[in-house]
Amino acid sequence: MDIERRIQGLRNEIRKHDRLYHVENRPIISDQEYDQLYRELVDLEQQHPEFLTPDSPTQRVGGTPLDGFRSERHRIPMLSISNTYSPGEVREFDARIHRMLQTADYDSALGISEQEFRNACGKPVEYVVEPKVDGVAIALCYEQGTFVKALTRGDGVEGDDVSANVRTMRTVPLHLESIPESLSHLEVRGEVYMERADFESYNAELLQQAKEPFANPRNATAGSLKQLDPREAAKRPLKMFVHSLGYMEGIQFQTHAEALHALADFGLRVIAPFHVLPDIAAVIALCDEFESKRYDLPFGIDGLVIKVNSRHQQAILGSTTKSPRWVIAYKFKAEQATTLLSNITWQVGRTGALTPVAELEPVPLAGTVIRRATLHNYDEIERKDLRIGDRVIIEKGGEVIPKVVLSLKETRTGIERVPERPTQCPSCGGVVHRPEDEVVYRCENLSCPAQMERRLDHFGARGAMDIEGLGDVLVHQLVESGLVKSLPDLYRLDREHLLSLERMGEKSADNLLSAIQSSKTQPPSRLLFGLGIRHVGSHVTNVLSRTVGNIWELKEKSVEQLTEISEIGPVVAASIHEFFQDENNLTVLEQLEQLGLNFVNAEKPEARPHTSPIAGKTFVITGTLEGMSRDEAKAFLESYGAKVTGSVSAKTDFLLCGTDAGSKLTKAQQLGVRVIELTELRSLLGE
Ligand code: IVH
Repeated sequence: MDIERRIQGLRNEIRKHDRLYHVENRPIISDQEYDQLYRELVDLEQQHPEFLTPDSPTQRVGGTPLDGFRSERHRIPMLSISNTYSPGEVREFDARIHRMLQTADYDSALGISEQEFRNACGKPVEYVVEPKVDGVAIALCYEQGTFVKALTRGDGVEGDDVSANVRTMRTVPLHLESIPESLSHLEVRGEVYMERADFESYNAELLQQAKEPFANPRNATAGSLKQLDPREAAKRPLKMFVHSLGYMEGIQFQTHAEALHALADFGLRVIAPFHVLPDIAAVIALCDEFESKRYDLPFGIDGLVIKVNSRHQQAILGSTTKSPRWVIAYKFKAEQATTLLSNITWQVGRTGALTPVAELEPVPLAGTVIRRATLHNYDEIERKDLRIGDRVIIEKGGEVIPKVVLSLKETRTGIERVPERPTQCPSCGGVVHRPEDEVVYRCENLSCPAQMERRLDHFGARGAMDIEGLGDVLVHQLVESGLVKSLPDLYRLDREHLLSLERMGEKSADNLLSAIQSSKTQPPSRLLFGLGIRHVGSHVTNVLSRTVGNIWELKEKSVEQLTEISEIGPVVAASIHEFFQDENNLTVLEQLEQLGLNFVNAEKPEARPHTSPIAGKTFVITGTLEGMSRDEAKAFLESYGAKVTGSVSAKTDFLLCGTDAGSKLTKAQQLGVRVIELTELRSLLGE
């Protein structure tokens, strides 16, 4: 009994110091004193494993590396935020909110009483303004105050379970303090990020180990969260801020600010600084003031987030499919720097397109050192009248790669040179051709090694097949040596092949072979993304793989059928269609399948909307649904290929109706729209 009590006491003591150090930034004991407490706890837990609990401060690094990340559906989708770039747009946002609150009808407000609805519509609108942290969105789930899991945003509907890595972060409490007894579930959302200084020293370390550095703190953060070995993730200098609420049971908040204060009391590290402001004029004044202060913060921000403070007003305003209507981002102007354009080189892309690259005198910008920038195409070089030797202004907006804005012509000395148009491929020396109606030059040699390198790079990248160890240098060696002439060749490599490459050790060869081998089990969405079909990014491949059960089904679809898939537009559809008509591509696919890659969506038999009885049907949701929020119901319907809209019209096929339905039900009955309840819907879908 004494021992159990001592263990409890030590845990509480250590948690207190963890919080003081990592969350509140005001430690009160020395590192040695802390280590002593920690070691005593570790010893006692080792001697008495019966008292070990997962929320003990010693349980931050869980044993063995994972094979991959399990994905899981968010109980409430993780939406994004729409952007504004000027005070005028922020004012429009405010005007829109006032208009919506004045004209809202009670039926569209979720989870509040009619009385609350009326009060909220009449009240002035207060705002909370927070930094928009340039990091990676994560949801943390606590049950009875104990940390149970962390999910990435993923595609917003489902994310990856990165609990093992997030657990290692000291800024994430494993145990919440002083929570109300009723609080059974608490999901909070926030941003994992790296401070600028930590990023720089981490990158310096990578360089020292002859490893590839990360392009920016955000990429470094994303890469760290996707480490399969939590012991590795634990070494990365990650931090987390919490800035919003997800699914909750047993607690309610009146305002966002109240929620932030409560979360801080629970020991969570809440976004700072945040400001509660009485009206939009005060918000705009703060935006203005903050723009110059952004570098005073130790972490990168790309703007501010403006949120309606009242939770009731939030509920009335609701969300579109993409983002809540009660929140908006105010993005800062892109950051700029001046440097020397020392050369222009041409890079060969996956599809043979030649892209000019500005080689720059290294210059610090937005927390990283910039050496290169994109120039898009030759026309742009001409339009901007860029010359080699010019001083240029470069800019970094939201995108990773900076761009050249203009050249400072007044500083020319006369030795600057006009860059030449490409005449041959810098990689294979083949002819370069510029189609009549296009701006890009292309290398038309299908077996051009540079194209193959880029395809292979993309195929093995994080987000695609994620083949650890298949970096730029190795890709170059594999293609140059002729070992890999097409994607399937990658799966035909053996130990001997690899050992014939320069600087390749036995251990690296074995690791690479096992990474290649295990990439075969990547889900088909990753494979589709890895193929690098034009206009088909990771979001589109997620959508596609939710729609089809097998990659080959895409081959059978016409452009029209592809366009019917929600979120697939005509350009993307045409590109997918073209890809699956090409004999070479089909051969590559056949070989990949024979080599054992995963073409079938095994886990998601339900995710085949084209065979579901409600595929393509339009739904409206009303009333309170049993055991399902409206957002959940929407995601549920969409997973069966249905569309969900906000108001009942002649085009509505079904009204999904819960208890306490209002005017929508009346309207549906008037229009003769089929009204269906959740239980009936479930049996219709065979759930
Ligand atoms: S609130 C949808 N607050 O920005 C409302 N988001 O561009 C929930 N972000 O996906 C998000 N700082 O990951 C919120 N203070 C902040 C934020 C923030 C960064 C991220 C967030 C979101 C993305 C949208």
